[in-house]
Amino acid sequence: MKTLEELKAKEDLTILAIESSCDETACAVLKGTALLSSIISSQIDIHKQYGGVVPEIASRNHTLNVGSVVDSALAEAGVSLKDIDAIAVTYGAGLLGALLVGVGYAKALAYSLSIPLIKVNHIRGHIAANYISNPELVPPYVGLIVSGGHTAVSVVRTYTDIEILGSTADDAAGEAFDKVARVIGLPYPGGPQVEKLAKEGKASIEMPEPKMENEYDFSYSGLKTAVINYVHTKEQKGEEVPRADVAASFQTAAVNMLVKAAVKAAEKTGIKKIAIAGGVGANGALRETLSREGKKHNIDVYFPTKIMCTDNAAMIAMEARMQILYGDGSCLADLTLDAKASMPLGIKGKR
Ligand code: KG4
Ligand code: ZN
Repeated sequence: MKTLEELKAKEDLTILAIESSCDETACAVLKGTALLSSIISSQIDIHKQYGGVVPEIASRNHTLNVGSVVDSALAEAGVSLKDIDAIAVTYGAGLLGALLVGVGYAKALAYSLSIPLIKVNHIRGHIAANYISNPELVPPYVGLIVSGGHTAVSVVRTYTDIEILGSTADDAAGEAFDKVARVIGLPYPGGPQVEKLAKEGKASIEMPEPKMENEYDFSYSGLKTAVINYVHTKEQKGEEVPRADVAASFQTAAVNMLVKAAVKAAEKTGIKKIAIAGGVGANGALRETLSREGKKHNIDVYFPTKIMCTDNAAMIAMEARMQILYGDGSCLADLTLDAKASMPLGIKGKR
């Protein structure tokens, strides 16, 4: 079995990564910094009929899919298992049963090939997606994390050292998009649907701006309640709900909150670079607003491509590479590796 030092020294280090934390079964092969393949098998159509992800159904479908997704990733990369130097896997945060499928498969692969197993934190993976789409991005930079489960403003000090400046007090940004979507009758997953409908409306409905003690913290519960109250009042009066205006008003308020915090972090720390991470990073309004504000404040703004914003295994492979090259060795796992449903990115103010 190769040691961490041997992996570090390996030219064209080749990593096969597996991701199964929610409703995407994904596998990717990364050789050096070149992404050879990235296969994503989405279960959206299965979960859509339930209005959200059903954990047991997600686990079952991961079990059915994982083998063929790994085979496809190897075939598309044009490599075989003997070319792989290490197996990387998401072990948290996410749905426990779903994670266990990827973790189990990765353990079996690593064991049978006698190669190292690398455990990867899903949210750190989202940040690492930037190194695939924007290889020129070098820390330090302000990392704005906006996924379905996490929302935070951070300073990415080095490739492995992240300091959290602020986070959400309640819902994550993606969660808020999904809940608002449900209130106005849009299907799962709500984020892209809200974005689409918002294009047909105007941000004409007043939305509350939360006042937080810590200037980098967020809250989405006030916004969500404002949307619910607005819709219910309209319905009680028998008036038509201007759904497109609701979508546009919510999206504008949600995006402004994120952009404001990220720009403030860049201004106050003097680190004039912001990179976005996570599914909500695919949102066009967020991308445009942040780019515009960035230009205004002389801040460089980086986004992963839209497909790299949502869940994929390429970002897991890239994060594993960063942990191998620059980490403290704690990324090395063995057959006792367990999945973790929740996994804080870091402690506020700490790295
Ligand atoms: O990062 P991600 O793929 O999974 C997690 O790790 O949570 O994020 C999923 C979240 C969902 O809440 C989804 O609605 C949201 O990202 N999302 C979007 C868009 N695309 C995905 N939200 C707003 N606009 C989008 N275009
Ligand atoms: Zn994710």
